Amino acid sequence: MKGIVLAGGSGTRLGPLTVSTSKQLLPVYDKPMIYYPLSALMLAGIRQVEIITTPRDEADFRKLLGDGSQLGMKLSYVVQTAPRGIADAFILCRDFIGDSPVTLILGDNLFYGHGLSELLHQSVSGSIAGATIFSYHVNNPRRYGVVSVDKSGRATALVEKPQMPKSNLAVTGLYVYDNTVVDRVRVLSPSARNELEITDLNKLYLQDGSLRVVPLGRGVAWLDTGTAQSLLEASEFVRSLQRRQGLQIACIEEIAYRQGWIGSADLDRAAKSFESCDYGKYLDRLPRVSE
Ligand code: G1P
Repeated sequence: MKGIVLAGGSGTRLGPLTVSTSKQLLPVYDKPMIYYPLSALMLAGIRQVEIITTPRDEADFRKLLGDGSQLGMKLSYVVQTAPRGIADAFILCRDFIGDSPVTLILGDNLFYGHGLSELLHQSVSGSIAGATIFSYHVNNPRRYGVVSVDKSGRATALVEKPQMPKSNLAVTGLYVYDNTVVDRVRVLSPSARNELEITDLNKLYLQDGSLRVVPLGRGVAWLDTGTAQSLLEASEFVRSLQRRQGLQIACIEEIAYRQGWIGSADLDRAAKSFESCDYGKYLDRLPRVSE
């Protein structure tokens, strides 16, 4: 399984915050935003990840995350010259995907909750056939792709940002596809907003009965961070939990260590490089298993 983080786009809904930097590099409390979606892929067990960025921001992402070897991962970068929609990811990353299945996560989506790692891990393991999307009950579905399901939980309809939503189930920014995605994306045409819509791609799977909907329950938090309001709410959420528990959300070095991708010497190195902040002190305090 390969992974893609979509961290392109112009972030215009964040106004002056994104004039000179990428939305996905802005802080969500104490870490750059991209740490959160990257950590979701890591928890699913995905070690090979391509990051889609812009000509302006590529160097900054490389500076932040490098080739991923410090996390026992392989990270690569691809530049999207103009925002052409989420589904464009599968055209841009075709070489990277090769003949693998692929999981895409939007760079401004934050997932958190009990049992989520296991759910993610199950969803990307084994032989992948068709597509899997993750639904989440929201107050205002108009902002999202919306899925309707029948009594058995099977998808019956998908609509992008409906005026009159038929359900409260938003489609979250995490998608798992079999390798047919690289061919399916080629038949899509740009929408009215001139983008290749992920919802149109998912509809192709819906039409041939191979779209699976996994509900994320109310014990899971799904936050997006695309507006000033939601960005601050996400920061507050992370701060509250971390202060209460004394455990970090989306600490990528901790996850890599727990996955067995890096050893305690790597953890020591990361702790040292951040020694003047709480993040580094946290890494320093983490219990080491004997190797
Ligand atoms: C995109 C998708 C939408 C999905 C949402 C999740 O919307 O088009 O289907 O529900 O991401 O964050 P955007 O936020 O890019 O408008």
